[in-house]
Amino acid sequence: MATELDPDRALADLRALRDLTEDDRGAQRVAWTDTWAQARVWLRERLADLPVRVDTDEAGNLWAVLEGASPETVVLGSHIDSVPDGGWLDGALGVLGGLEVLRTLAESGTPPPVTVALVDWADEEGARFGRSLLGSGLATRTLHPRDVRDVTDRDGVALADALAAHGVDLHAAPAARARLEPAVAYLELHIEQGPVLERDGLSVGVVTGTAGVVRHAVRIRGQAVQGGGFPMEARRDALVAGARLVLAVREAARDARSRATVGAITVRPAIPTAVPGLCELTIDQRHPDADALAAMVNEVHDAAAHIAVDERVAIDFERIWAIAPVAFDDDLIALADETASEVTGVSARLFSGALHDAAAVASAGVPAVMLFVQSAGGISHAPEEDTAPEHLAAGVRTLARLADRVIARSARPPG
Ligand code: GLV
Ligand code: MN
Ligand code: MN
Repeated sequence: MATELDPDRALADLRALRDLTEDDRGAQRVAWTDTWAQARVWLRERLADLPVRVDTDEAGNLWAVLEGASPETVVLGSHIDSVPDGGWLDGALGVLGGLEVLRTLAESGTPPPVTVALVDWADEEGARFGRSLLGSGLATRTLHPRDVRDVTDRDGVALADALAAHGVDLHAAPAARARLEPAVAYLELHIEQGPVLERDGLSVGVVTGTAGVVRHAVRIRGQAVQGGGFPMEARRDALVAGARLVLAVREAARDARSRATVGAITVRPAIPTAVPGLCELTIDQRHPDADALAAMVNEVHDAAAHIAVDERVAIDFERIWAIAPVAFDDDLIALADETASEVTGVSARLFSGALHDAAAVASAGVPAVMLFVQSAGGISHAPEEDTAPEHLAAGVRTLARLADRVIARSARPPG
């Protein structure tokens, strides 16, 4: 007997995952940690009763494949990893909304005309190693193992070792590309992580693309000295130089579509009685226009050169991650727009400043589109992250309807 889509099942799954993986500071599903692995065990249990093939690819991405009448594959996906002290919906909505769509198709009793897959990409957030879209990047070959071969976390653990502890051989990861060979479309549902849909009173919007990103790790070297003994004018204070650089980063992001974040900073020796001799920070700059992004990056480099002279410190930039602006597929955008209007009565198109696995997938040539649901107060990457159940349900319904239409469109004519 055919069963109906039930967004409440997705909501119940989201709440269960939240209970399993959050503490009093928020969600703790950081990729390559025990809590993340536990979340994946739980996800596999949720998939166990369905007639789907479940396994992980060479890059550590978890796939659940519902075999259809033809091998062409419509892929639904997002990520179950979170930032530390994160929210319950970022990534999880797309995976568990996708699970409800897959479950409904699987329970219908007849195989779909094309194959349908759900993917939980590994390490979308890059929270621990600073490299976003790791699993999707490796699988789409937009990221190569050599790009991350020498990367370590704050505690000096090598990325390759963290992956190996979870059964992933970094150097074999590009073989995961084979999973995308039969993909004809990629659909991702996500929270907006911004204020636009809520402001405009909309549940769901269609994402036209994602911003370009350039990320640097910056090392500022001055001289540690005794804080009481050393005169102000003679200091080479790495943190003062860092503070000036942070302000320069903000200053360079003056146009309304720019985003720039210094999200991590450390100093040495980090005691009250020593002038910091070393300051390390990350700079993440974003813009939908590649030239504007390049100009913003150059402006910060120039500012750093001035600060280095003024403060008598050395400032070194290491470019650790980048992605060009990505435009999603025009036909899928139009179809998603129509579908969102049908399901919610109205639709809107918006651009994403946040990164998503869909950007890696689209960069690899697979037609992709995303749906956003509104975020309460636009807050995300924080435990306050939330969306009212009716909007979450509208998002899952829109994803399901869109998947149905894409499946129907992708099916070979009989004969
Ligand atoms: C991911 O959350 C990003 O936008 O970096
Ligand atoms: Mn996300
Ligand atoms: Mn995120």
